[in-house]
Amino acid sequence: MTTAILSALPEEQSTLVAHLAHPQRLMHAGRAFWRGELAGRAVVLALSGIGKVAAATTATALVERFGVARIVFTGVAGGLGDGVNVGDVVVAEDYLQHDMDASPLFPRWEVPGYARSRLACDADLSAILLEAAGACVASARGQFGFKPELLGAPAVTSHRAHHGLIASGDRFVCAADEAHRLRTTLQDAGHPALAVEMEGAAVAQVCHDYGIPFAAARTISDRADDTAHVDFPRFVQTVASRYAEHMVLTLMQKL
Ligand code: ADE
Repeated sequence: MTTAILSALPEEQSTLVAHLAHPQRLMHAGRAFWRGELAGRAVVLALSGIGKVAAATTATALVERFGVARIVFTGVAGGLGDGVNVGDVVVAEDYLQHDMDASPLFPRWEVPGYARSRLACDADLSAILLEAAGACVASARGQFGFKPELLGAPAVTSHRAHHGLIASGDRFVCAADEAHRLRTTLQDAGHPALAVEMEGAAVAQVCHDYGIPFAAARTISDRADDTAHVDFPRFVQTVASRYAEHMVLTLMQKL
């Protein structure tokens, strides 16, 4: 049984490639895939690409070409929910496409043909990921040496691992009014999104189509507003890729 580890960021992927036993690089659909073993288990590592279509293509290739039995996705996201701070991790309970709108033919956010707007992640895989995320954030200041204030983000005394809805769309949200509108519009419709990113819902849909388990963990890199002064490349290097490494290796040991 092969597990796909999908990374949103090249830095996350290269950290994992360094841990691969019997690494083998293959090109397919214009993408690089790494086959090998992590913690003695067969994996394929891939980069999602940016945006829903790129991520859906990668996910489809993972299933069709590499025959993976489940997909685990790590990356970064903007925090939308109350108390979802830079340096926290959100493990997806389910996903929604915030830019899906086929109204008046279908209710706003409903994915046509699926009779729903939210696609659930696998509960068992997500529980393992949530436990690994909790251990990561608990030791953030110790093991990972993460101090958000050094990256320009507000100082927070403790970091949290959250579990809930993540919204995806083909838009990098970087304005306070837009983040507020997105959050309140979704919340008022009964969709309290904790975070926003650009790929997860597409992968959730592909996994739903093929009937394979899916789980995702996103490290919060910003608050999706214009006051998020985080030094993104440094954040990715010092925090997000180390969190991803820790979460994925913990998960692989527990599968
Ligand atoms: N990924 C990380 N931060 C994001 C944001 N603010 N909007 C969309 N995707 C993101």
